[in-house]
Amino acid sequence: MKLLIDDAHIDLIKNIYRYYPIDGVTTNPTILAKGGRAPFEVLKEIREFIGEEAELHVQAVAGTTEGMIEDAHKIQSELGKNTFVKIPSIPTGFKAMQILKGEEANITATAIYTPMQAYLAAKSGADYVAPYINRIDNMGFNGIQVAKEIQDIFRSNGYETQILAASFKNSQQVLELCQYGIGASTVAPDVIEAFVKNVAIDSAVAAFVKDFEELCGEGKTMANL
Ligand code: G3P
Repeated sequence: MKLLIDDAHIDLIKNIYRYYPIDGVTTNPTILAKGGRAPFEVLKEIREFIGEEAELHVQAVAGTTEGMIEDAHKIQSELGKNTFVKIPSIPTGFKAMQILKGEEANITATAIYTPMQAYLAAKSGADYVAPYINRIDNMGFNGIQVAKEIQDIFRSNGYETQILAASFKNSQQVLELCQYGIGASTVAPDVIEAFVKNVAIDSAVAAFVKDFEELCGEGKTMANL
């Protein structure tokens, strides 16, 4: 399962990239608004940092099919080849996906709450569909189950479309999708950091260091014996 960062804050992105194996970055208009900076300035900074091979997912904001296509062209021309244009999975969006697929654009169908949206997006040519796991849970449904149903629909029908699961509030949600072979998850920096935030892990590692230093001396490691 690919792992992406769902944030546009460059310092937080750099901090996660420093330690974790990351495949790219996703943003949406709300994430960009939180930063308060000019969108393309931030997005170009992110692209420069992650490199041209990493995935960068950026959302079209216009509501009409024509407007989404114009947004997509601008996003692609400013941000390079491995940029995925996020298109909302609404009627005007399905049409935009079909046209953009004819241009061989990279498309992520977003704002997915139901398997029916995912099915229509896959048929419209989306490379990824992005179900909102935690937001679905908050509506009283089961976000993990929705993602699994979408995966089953894609497998049963031979669609190559992958799932890019989004909207996570805890590591267990991510792990369950990993167990099911979901293609990708995009996760906020604080939730990624919480993957291994565990006193048992910290205490086990600290005990190894203490025991070794008792044997060999303070500050000793294998390298400086
Ligand atoms: O792009 C969709 C995803 O970022 C939503 O996440 O945490 O706002 O539900 P959240």
